[in-house]
Amino acid sequence: MIEYRTLRVALLGGGTVGAHVARRLIDHADELAARVGAHVELIGVAVRDLKAKRSPEIPAALLTTDAASLILGADIVIEVMGGIEPARTYITQALQSGADVVTANKALLAHHGTELFALAEQVGAQLYYEAAVAGAIPIIRPLRDSLAGDNVLRIMGIVNGTTNFILDRMETDGSSFDEALAVATDLGYAEADPTADVDGFDAAQKAAILASLAFHTTVDLDAVYREGIREVSGEVIALASKAGYAVKLLAIAERIDDPVGGSNGVSVRVYPALIPRTHPLAAVRGANNAVFVEAEGAGSLMFYGAGAGGPQTASAVLGDLVSAARRHVIGGPGLAESTHANLAMLPVSVVSTRYHVTLEVADEPGVLASIANVFAQHSVSVEMVEQGIFGPGPSASTKGHTATLVIGTHQARESDLAATVADLAELKAVTSVTSVIRIEGA
Ligand code: NAP
Ligand code: HSE
Repeated sequence: MIEYRTLRVALLGGGTVGAHVARRLIDHADELAARVGAHVELIGVAVRDLKAKRSPEIPAALLTTDAASLILGADIVIEVMGGIEPARTYITQALQSGADVVTANKALLAHHGTELFALAEQVGAQLYYEAAVAGAIPIIRPLRDSLAGDNVLRIMGIVNGTTNFILDRMETDGSSFDEALAVATDLGYAEADPTADVDGFDAAQKAAILASLAFHTTVDLDAVYREGIREVSGEVIALASKAGYAVKLLAIAERIDDPVGGSNGVSVRVYPALIPRTHPLAAVRGANNAVFVEAEGAGSLMFYGAGAGGPQTASAVLGDLVSAARRHVIGGPGLAESTHANLAMLPVSVVSTRYHVTLEVADEPGVLASIANVFAQHSVSVEMVEQGIFGPGPSASTKGHTATLVIGTHQARESDLAATVADLAELKAVTSVTSVIRIEGA
């Protein structure tokens, strides 16, 4: 019989994720002990309200509202309460008391990661965060460890399950935005404040975390360009689908070395984009996530799986817990975050991509030429023009009526496209610029 020591684990949060973490810790205690080489004992679960209705996964005797005392008695602290405070204070206390910390809290890491990682390094502890990005999918370890000897060039991912679920439902069963969001919330995918999901904040936080790791550079959240999905109508999704595209909220982080334009550094951005049906990311349905990584040596890699949900996220948390517990058994210092490259952060204006611009225009002779002229003036090359395909109705052909024009561009710089759109909006023949959407992965 092997004599194991006992590692004491404090769980902060007993909600969607915490309940499943508790259940697995309790139900799989013997298996975990064998994998770790120590007993892993759940000593308590800190919650906000002892009387709140909650999942039966957590034995009532373990519940407490005294998180600070719980932390003091722990070797490892798991933070799955979310939000900035008091999570930041509790993690700080845990690290200061010598505990390793596992967190799923991307908001906290995106805002205060630098300070928390520095503290962990200073006290010789480790902060684990696999669950903070893309739920169950292993992506932090591959970027930090498996690709540590390679050069990552680009990351393009679907990292928010809620928005992917919403866009998917809007396309597949014609649900409205509000209906699909309500279902995503019921299923436990959405953040406590779903604005974080639909306005792209959650994806931006995850993009900042991924970009920091991939490019060995501290990426400030303010440097991440962000657009959400509120402006994406069911009509745009349906017409994109007919044209062979899916609409996805993408998080993109890429190395840009453009000696001609003088832009060298990293661009990190989140926006809805058209992606061709043939691209692997277009096949990511429901609340699933996927991260497509291009590296110099490894080529293209795709990481795919559940991006949200209690049991799924708990799986990633448990993986980190096992790593933390093994580190306690083996000993040795924690691994510092690698930020030595210190690359410049580039604004979205220097990014080059393709665009679909949809215009409502007067259906008159010469209009097309005047529009083409605006594109040419800003060096934006037009790839295709379609009338009435992508727009709301059948194209009108009678003088005095308006028609819908969809203009697809070749690669163009964001600043040139923005100037083109501004000038188009001023043209007398253009009734409105209905939508401007980027095309990625084509
Ligand atoms: P949740 O269901 O809202 O649960 C939060 C838990 O934390 C609740 O048990 C709550 O207590 C407790 N809590 C909140 N504030 C507290 C405080 N001040 N003191 C003590 N306890 C407090 O959240 P969740 O969905 O499990 O998410 C937890 C974390 O995981 C978040 O950082 C989230 O971004 C991240 N995450 C979630 C998912 C997902 O699919 N849900 C996926 C990946 C990452 P009460 O129960 O008493 O209210
Ligand atoms: N609200 C997040 C999402 C949870 O929908 O992806 C997982 O981080």
